[in-house]
Amino acid sequence: MAAGLTMLSLPARCLLGPLRQPLLAPPRRGSSGPGRRWLLSTPIFYVNGPPHIGHLYSALLADALHRHRGLLGPGSGTDEHGLKIQQAAAAAGTAPSELCSHVSGLFRDLFFRAAVSFTDFIRTTEPRHRRAVQCFWAALQGRGLLYKDFYEGWYCTPDECFLTQAQITERPDAQGRPCKVSLESGHQVHWTKEENYMFKLSEFQEPLRKWLQGNRHVISPEPFYQVVLRWLEEDLPDLSVSRERNRLQWGIPVPGDSTQTIYVWVDALVNYLTVAGYPDAHHAWWPAAHHVVGKDILKFHAIYWPALLMAVGLDPPEQIYVHSHWTVRGQKMSKSLGNVVDPVACFKQYTVDGFRYFLLRQGVPERDCDYYEEKVIKLVNSELADALGGLLNRCIAPSINPSGIYPHFSESCFRKGSDHIDVEASGRALAEDYELVASVDRLPLQVTDYFEHFQIYKALESVVACVRQTNGFFQRHTPWKLCRDNPAEKCWLDTVLHVTLECLRIYGILLQPVIPATADKLLSRLSIKPEERAFTDLTFLPRYHGKPCPFEGRKLGPDMGFAPGLASCTMQWFKKVHKLEFE
Ligand code: MSP
Repeated sequence: MAAGLTMLSLPARCLLGPLRQPLLAPPRRGSSGPGRRWLLSTPIFYVNGPPHIGHLYSALLADALHRHRGLLGPGSGTDEHGLKIQQAAAAAGTAPSELCSHVSGLFRDLFFRAAVSFTDFIRTTEPRHRRAVQCFWAALQGRGLLYKDFYEGWYCTPDECFLTQAQITERPDAQGRPCKVSLESGHQVHWTKEENYMFKLSEFQEPLRKWLQGNRHVISPEPFYQVVLRWLEEDLPDLSVSRERNRLQWGIPVPGDSTQTIYVWVDALVNYLTVAGYPDAHHAWWPAAHHVVGKDILKFHAIYWPALLMAVGLDPPEQIYVHSHWTVRGQKMSKSLGNVVDPVACFKQYTVDGFRYFLLRQGVPERDCDYYEEKVIKLVNSELADALGGLLNRCIAPSINPSGIYPHFSESCFRKGSDHIDVEASGRALAEDYELVASVDRLPLQVTDYFEHFQIYKALESVVACVRQTNGFFQRHTPWKLCRDNPAEKCWLDTVLHVTLECLRIYGILLQPVIPATADKLLSRLSIKPEERAFTDLTFLPRYHGKPCPFEGRKLGPDMGFAPGLASCTMQWFKKVHKLEFE
């Protein structure tokens, strides 16, 4: 069984309305932008073991995408049925329902700690889901797309999937005995022969191909789209969608046939419809579905799920975002290797936002990424503590800004104009300073574009590049050497501080989806009110552009130090992260 998050998002302007009230016309396929609905989901997570950093990564990607749209209310949940869970409960000597409640609680707790915002957390053992799955089954049956047959083949319980001969290989087990394993996951497979219901998946090969060819961006990153197209060039056999009840009791029974249990993946995939209100109210949301999934479950989401949806007369999801996996010091995470990384321990060590930042900055969806402690420490220290935190601390220090206000910008020191290379004409600003202004001006669009293309790591890379450029600006003008008593120098000193704070304001707003608590502290320190933190407030350096600046002359906010939800360490965000420091 699994747990998953679903994020139902209304456009920002509808936030005050009840979440599922159909305030808007049903979404139009292909339409985009802030005026349309979005149902963003994580996978639902298996509850056979506690959460690890890979699970967290899936959830964080969804959370950051969701926050970036400036919306509230995504969803998640746990996948709680199937042989895998039945066996895990038996091995633990506990009832499946107890195991599910316990581990589902761990996932829910993790997402709260990790500040993953969700509107719904579904458990596949809930009655609303059972009803949705049974209705879905009835719809498949009503359309003549199920038949009973004898299924014979390999079953991989850890992956909960059937495999063809070509998908398995032989490897020695722990005792050196030859055993059959899945080529893809390396998990052991067993031969099964039983009477099952089969879904006429083969009838959907052509419709699936057409759907993909007509929607080139439906699966991103692009290499995964190509993988799915290649799968569709191969034979697409019908899919077994039930198991004999005497082998699998822990699951939803097939309606009208008490000898069979619905296949856990059909059960699990329908969760996305359950949270959308299926079978009664899903039309307000469907097909505005955007699924974040790991590469190991791509086939289920890009082939089985769209085919099942088409089979019941519904549209496939609008978008499938695929990510790769985290390894640990070059090895796959596994219980047997004892290298499973506990995200809660990482929060204690690096803070919640520090670890969120690491995963989203280092995680590249196209390829597997490697986790090791030194890498987190190095990244968090250099980019957050030194570059960002250092910049903030330097420009708000009482020694440099004794009045503690958002300083004034002076046009005569930093003139707008095309002839800025000419020092006379530009006041005291240098060519590199104009380059900084141009970079920060461009940044919001760049960041949005990267988010929309599921390249959050690139969005962060571009923010960091600007942070470094701002540090260069500050360093170049050595404001600590300027004398406040000299009116000309004071003018320039305030301008340098103003530009730096403006840069920090933009970075704070842009970083909210990734490091929400830290961005809040940063923006509060700059006295930016909560209602001034939207992406529509990203106009950089208005005074330079000849417009009024609402922040100029405003008293800076207090040094909040302790961040709610984080360990009690004053301004720990802007301190360097050392392993022992936070223990
Ligand atoms: N229950 C199914 C999903 C059903 S969705 C209708 C499942 N659960 S899972 O718990 O095994 O995995 C949940 C998510 O975690 C998947 O997206 C999977 O790719 C991701 N990860 C599991 N291990 C991972 C890493 N080592 N690294 C990154 N993500 C990983 O599959």
